[in-house]
Amino acid sequence: MWLGQACYGANLAPAALRAAGLQKRLTAFNQDIIDLGDIPIAVAGQCEAGEQQVKNLQPIIAASNEIARCVDRIVASDRFPLVLGGDHSIAIGTLAGLIGHYDNLGIIWYDAHADINTPATTPSGNIHGMPLAVAMGSGHAELLSIGGAGVRIKPENIVYIGVRDIDPGEAAFIDEQQIKLYTAEDVGRWGMPAIIEQTLAHLAACDGIHLSFDIDGIDPLAMPGVGTPAAGGVSYRDSILALQLLEQSRAVTSAEFVELNPVLDKDGQTTRAVVDLIAAFLGEFTPCGLQRTAAGRQEQDPA
Ligand code: ARG
Ligand code: MN
Ligand code: MN
Repeated sequence: MWLGQACYGANLAPAALRAAGLQKRLTAFNQDIIDLGDIPIAVAGQCEAGEQQVKNLQPIIAASNEIARCVDRIVASDRFPLVLGGDHSIAIGTLAGLIGHYDNLGIIWYDAHADINTPATTPSGNIHGMPLAVAMGSGHAELLSIGGAGVRIKPENIVYIGVRDIDPGEAAFIDEQQIKLYTAEDVGRWGMPAIIEQTLAHLAACDGIHLSFDIDGIDPLAMPGVGTPAAGGVSYRDSILALQLLEQSRAVTSAEFVELNPVLDKDGQTTRAVVDLIAAFLGEFTPCGLQRTAAGRQEQDPA
């Protein structure tokens, strides 16, 4: 999917990740990976007159329904859904597929952006800036009804990590809803372990946690292959650490990695880094047989 924003190329990310050896990298330490292939999604935009505030609405609705159906089936079969974007509009479908399986779903939104615009507040009309608003029940009526009953995530069940580029309408909404937020500066100031610990404590009452990981949360000097870069981001190292800590917590029940754009990448650097991130998140252990004695690492899951 790339139609949630302006730059062609995010739709090529799953193919680029496969070509960079994602599957091989993961199966080296986890044999239980199934690649379900691509979800059919329109590549050409369809911007109808009067829809400048929700660009490409119809193809995004069609794609979201497909994503929702697929994610719903994965969770129903007791497997862990890992969704590879695509721009961040895919989160609308992912969350619609998840919501029926939880009473009190939490979300960690790792991103430079808040993605909580509505057609009334969006400065761009790009739907990738809206998925969290849709998840809370604010936005275009047709987006709210994806997956049937609609998604209603409680404001207290959302935590932002890495945000630093928030539009005025978004700031007002976040303030009003009192959504928990850790900026990239907070990460630097307090350290990633404290941020993850507080995030999980904040979401302790949730019966599942979805990780929506926008790679532009990481500094664009490390991750140039993104369509909406924002300076001053979280470091690559802290991001790997965040994912290792989340993996070790066993608290996350689904995830998506979004906004990789191989067309904008420099020599495949961002693509390779995303493979590293996903591997860290799925429990790739320190190489070279290094035995850890520190208390940090929990018992290895025999599976
Ligand atoms: N806030 C801006 C907008 O609404 C940028 C959103 C960027 N979102 C993203 N998923 N990269 O257009
Ligand atoms: Mn972003
Ligand atoms: Mn985003």
